Amino acid sequence: MSRRTARPSLAAYDALKRALAGRRLPLAFVDLDRFDENAASMERRAAGLPIRVASKSLRCVALLRRVLARPGWAGVMAYSAAEAAALLDAGFDDVLVAYPTVDAQDVRALFPALREGRDVGLMVDDVAQVEALSALAREGGVTLPLWLDVDASLSLPGLHFGVRRSPIRSVGDARRVGEAIGQADAVELVGLMSYEAQIAGLPDATGRRALDLAIRALKTRSFSDVAARRGAITAALRADGHPLRRVNGGGTGSLETTRRDPSVTELAAGSGLYAPALFDEFASFRNAPAAAFALPVTRRPAPGIVTCHGGGYVASGAAGPDKLPRPWLPVGLSLLAREGAGEVQTPLEVPPDVTLAIGDPVFFRHAKAGELCERFTRLLLLRGGEVVDEVPTYRGAGWCFV
Ligand SMILES: Cc1ncc(COP(=O)(O)O)c(C=O)c1O
Repeated sequence: MSRRTARPSLAAYDALKRALAGRRLPLAFVDLDRFDENAASMERRAAGLPIRVASKSLRCVALLRRVLARPGWAGVMAYSAAEAAALLDAGFDDVLVAYPTVDAQDVRALFPALREGRDVGLMVDDVAQVEALSALAREGGVTLPLWLDVDASLSLPGLHFGVRRSPIRSVGDARRVGEAIGQADAVELVGLMSYEAQIAGLPDATGRRALDLAIRALKTRSFSDVAARRGAITAALRADGHPLRRVNGGGTGSLETTRRDPSVTELAAGSGLYAPALFDEFASFRNAPAAAFALPVTRRPAPGIVTCHGGGYVASGAAGPDKLPRPWLPVGLSLLAREGAGEVQTPLEVPPDVTLAIGDPVFFRHAKAGELCERFTRLLLLRGGEVVDEVPTYRGAGWCFV
């Protein structure tokens, strides 16, 4: 078949194969054209609200820098205090640790940046955390800026629609923790976060029509609930005298929804920049697959089956086939139900019109977000269909924040 008449999927496979020819496999790469296109599309959906980049989803300093150079993005949502300290050392500013910690060593690692007056935040949702952080801050001679995490889930009879994180749901809950912060030394309440995981991270265009419609209806109801509570809590905390400067909400799957809540001053997102496979299944947007990995075909155990080296880079969350990487190019390959993606080897069914030789690459997309860069030490960066750079992932930089 001549190149001009080749099926688009074969042309895409051939183009990637050519771009990565001669490289050692397995490898992971990010297509910068698509990464930038995704960033721009997320900015449009945010419609003017700044987006704080969720570092857990990217786990690559160079790509965090790249997106933060865009005017629509501001600040990092870090996933551990140790990571935040490393990012501050690397020159990042406005770093919010979005998940509570009272680990003394990690929290103390933030003190030098705080003494320099840099913008750092720690998350709380419990008076015990406030007390522990206050004691550490007092001893270190710093004032710790705290954010309050407000639960965004919707509780219905027989259904908890959302995640289990913060116990703070009502104005009363929030004021109680706010009061503890107000009374404690060396801490102040400067921000509020309320992440609607069940709207932002739950696919609602999976092709199972009844389920998709039910999820979309629940999302609509859930948004009204969280927006009302977020607004009331923010107003009450401000009325109590807390200098709440920022209110964060949302994620990749909810940018256009969360930004409609008038109490929200900034959004958060990360996954949509790589657009891993689970983010194909949202009704309101479609991002371009920007990150992928290539495995070499190393064996051909039977007609119609090839086996690749590597592959078991499984996403977090409730275990299920949707958390496995998906064969991407050439189009038509599938995992074997009984084996999935293996720790060292991944067999694939190959359709009759695809021929793969030993040594050929198979391209996969990871399912969710951060798992790719926990497996690879480097990312090749492509632009205009060619490799233009190579950068370390967190793992390649020796960064492992558990
Ligand atoms: C607190 C918080 N905000 C926002 C997000 C959204 O991140 P992403 O866009 O990478 O899904 C997450 C992801 O889990 C999160 O935990």
